[in-house]
Amino acid sequence: MATEILSMESIRAGYGPNDVLHGTSLRVDSGEIVALLGGNGAGKTTTLGILAGTVAPRTGTVRWMGKDISRHSIADRLRQGLVLCPEGRRIFPRLSVEENLVAGTWIRDPKATPRKIREAYDRFPILGQRRGQLGGTLSGGEQQLLAIARALMSEPKLLMLDEPSLGLAPLVVERIFSILVEINACGTPVLLVEQNANQALKIAHRAYVLSTGTLVREGTGQELLASDEIRRAYLGGD
Ligand SMILES: Nc1ncnc2c1ncn2[C@@H]1O[C@H](COP(=O)(O)OP(=O)(O)OP(=O)(O)O)[C@@H](O)[C@H]1O
Ligand SMILES: [Mg+2]
Repeated sequence: MATEILSMESIRAGYGPNDVLHGTSLRVDSGEIVALLGGNGAGKTTTLGILAGTVAPRTGTVRWMGKDISRHSIADRLRQGLVLCPEGRRIFPRLSVEENLVAGTWIRDPKATPRKIREAYDRFPILGQRRGQLGGTLSGGEQQLLAIARALMSEPKLLMLDEPSLGLAPLVVERIFSILVEINACGTPVLLVEQNANQALKIAHRAYVLSTGTLVREGTGQELLASDEIRRAYLGGD
């Protein structure tokens, strides 16, 4: 049976005087790909910030493997395997591909770094071919692969991604989504924030829809794909 690994309960959070999340709750179970959908400004990135520790909740609880981690630092959460691949990729433009893989990575065991770099190049041969190239000179798609490869260097027990398909050509998007399926098939649960709802729902076991800081729908990927209301609002269908 699936067990809960991460949850947030009744989270209220925001910036300055404004609340962005109004008592939001969600969970990710072992083995799952969970999609978090919603329009611009709905609070998706803020939600990931709450989970990764970059945004402090005003009220509510974040639980990881059964433990309250609401007040744990970003570094602490990273050490425990809660890894975020951030919005806009955020690779280091002046560092080489290989330096990017090492920098900004939580290294549990430095002796394992060469092995993990080899594994990254096995999974993403294009990065191996370009290991000496500066991150900033990679194409958008290559930068996203690098951002995912870098996140994997931290050996996530949960991989969270913020709009990995943003601005990429359809073929590259397909490649990114198939990589996520592959990572999940190897045992890593995935929490995926996406505007590309159609593709995200196709690979998600479960999904949530966020609208101005409130969860308005939850269901299996299939249920949401089949919902007229969701099609109209997020999938461009009628
Ligand atoms: N650092 C910040 N300071 C002040 N307001 C912020 C900050 N970050 C986000 N906000 C506001 O919080 C709201 C939710 O933003 P958030 O980035 O979580 O949305 P999102 O769903 O990720 O949107 P998008 O799809 O455009 O990335 C927005 O109104 C945004 O302007
Ligand atoms: Mg965002």
